[in-house]
Amino acid sequence: MYRVAVLISGSGSNLQALIDSPARNTSYSIDYVISDRPGVYGLKRAELNGIKNYVVDRKVYKAALSDEILKLIKDKVDIIVLAGFLSILRGEILVAFTNKIINIHPSLIPSFCGSGMYGIKVHESVIQCGAKVSGCTVHFVDAGTDSGPIILQKTVPVYFEDDALSLQKRVLEQEHIALPKALDLLCKDRLKIIDGRVKIID
Ligand code: GRF
Repeated sequence: MYRVAVLISGSGSNLQALIDSPARNTSYSIDYVISDRPGVYGLKRAELNGIKNYVVDRKVYKAALSDEILKLIKDKVDIIVLAGFLSILRGEILVAFTNKIINIHPSLIPSFCGSGMYGIKVHESVIQCGAKVSGCTVHFVDAGTDSGPIILQKTVPVYFEDDALSLQKRVLEQEHIALPKALDLLCKDRLKIIDGRVKIID
């Protein structure tokens, strides 16, 4: 069973999906929850489920954030999951956890992603440009922003009557399916990266 650290910045509904998944305590254990900001509900979710949780405050650690997180989890976990984590990981942690960090993004990458494209802003942009389909992407994390090899994508329809909140709700439902599924595949060693693309091995 792989040991997992989940990094959050907010409500932690994706963390909750990982907690509630049948794959938890079969494919993976959640050993740490780390937030880059204090007082977020995701920390309460960890507490309620007996999971060690820490704040590594981005306002305190600034450029040292990634190294501080690495200090906490090095040799204690095998995989890092970014579940609504808004800071960018840099430096040694990316080397120590090469192809062992996954992220969930609330759009169909390569659309509506990259620097400054997060949270409700993503859905506002989708609505504004009149896209008819949106969705979410789980991908490996590399040194870029939302740029690593794509593991899974889930699509949702975008209706003319949608606003950013109604679309966000529909996409979030799919995120809660995609993220646990992708983590389960990773823990079962069913993800192979070939020339920058992910092949799911049966
Ligand atoms: C989700 O939409 C996720 O795709 C994005 O941030 C949001 C976090 O939601 N990265 P939650 O904290 O998991 O509820």
